[in-house]
Amino acid sequence: MDNLQTTYLGLKLKNPLIAGSCGLTNSVTNIKELASKGIGAVVIKSLFEEQIHVDTEKIIKNEQGKVSTFTKAPDTILSKRIYDYDEAYSYIYDFAKRNSLEKYLDFLKEVKKSVDIPIIASINCVSNQDWHAFAKRIEETKVDALELNIYILPSDWRRSGEDNEKIYYDIIREVRNYVNLPIAVKIGYYFSSLAQSVQKLSESGIKGLVLFNRPYNTDFDIDNITLSHGQIYSSEEEYNHTLRWISILSGHVNCDLSASTGVHDHNAFIKQLLAGATSVQIASALYREGLDIIPEILNKTSEWMAKHKFKDVAEFRGKLSKTNLENPAAIERVQFMKLYSGIE
Ligand SMILES: Cc1cc2nc3c(=O)[nH]c(=O)nc-3n(C[C@H](O)[C@H](O)[C@H](O)COP(=O)(O)O)c2cc1C
Repeated sequence: MDNLQTTYLGLKLKNPLIAGSCGLTNSVTNIKELASKGIGAVVIKSLFEEQIHVDTEKIIKNEQGKVSTFTKAPDTILSKRIYDYDEAYSYIYDFAKRNSLEKYLDFLKEVKKSVDIPIIASINCVSNQDWHAFAKRIEETKVDALELNIYILPSDWRRSGEDNEKIYYDIIREVRNYVNLPIAVKIGYYFSSLAQSVQKLSESGIKGLVLFNRPYNTDFDIDNITLSHGQIYSSEEEYNHTLRWISILSGHVNCDLSASTGVHDHNAFIKQLLAGATSVQIASALYREGLDIIPEILNKTSEWMAKHKFKDVAEFRGKLSKTNLENPAAIERVQFMKLYSGIE
């Protein structure tokens, strides 16, 4: 399948289909299987910034000889750094205890030895507080790139959009100080001016933007009148949102765009490429359809390319992007009026 080759973050991929960061990219066995099914690259399950805070604190305390065991959550950790929420920090502290940084680094080294496809490490972060140096340790494992999943829910009414966005730039600048690895940033869609923010982010020295992180969804259980949560896996109807933004933004940004959310089959995969994506990530489909979805997507894409006489991906990538449209919002408005007004 040579005609599916592509370049993402400056890395050569045999095809643009990437296993997105999830529980299935958390073991060497799974990653070997993903590679054997033909996946183009893998984003490793994220390390949480909080794990770095907790482990760093542990190391400092041990060096000072003040704390010899790792059983009690010191109140200097996390709560004061990021959260004013006891339950959050004790959960995160326990999580960090079970998932140590050294284990993560050993795992990355093992993965790199086991497969010959590009491996992208991932850190899920929410603040610019003292964790960046750890990115250097990740680089030393010889992974090929680093994806930063920066998810800042703009729910704090004391903070302006500018305050929130500053965190993205601060994180990127700090991490770039420590590593030469190509960096991709995975974002959500809660920006006050998404197009402008994405364009500015694409000029911050990163090599790629992943659109979009699928957020944790709040829900209510009305029988027990308690909080619950939305679906963990995406459905095949969810690709449109990413499709809209990839097609609006491709051609206007100074880095690669990777499409993420709602890609469950070759149709959605091809559409994201037509919109201008350089790569396409899948996670829920791997859980819901199994890993055979990988060769299925790739084979059907090759058949579609043959049918339309496209020799390689570059020939059709971005063919349906809105790069040349002056005002995509006006086009969408007219389409909405045409489609919806006639329905009674
Ligand atoms: C079980 C599960 C675990 C996930 N863990 C992570 C993670 O650690 N880091 C991350 O950036 N995204 C994580 N994600 C989000 C996926 O990478 C992806 O962005 C999201 O599921 C939308 O893509 P999809 O529609 O193909 O699932 C996870 C998703 C699932 C379903």
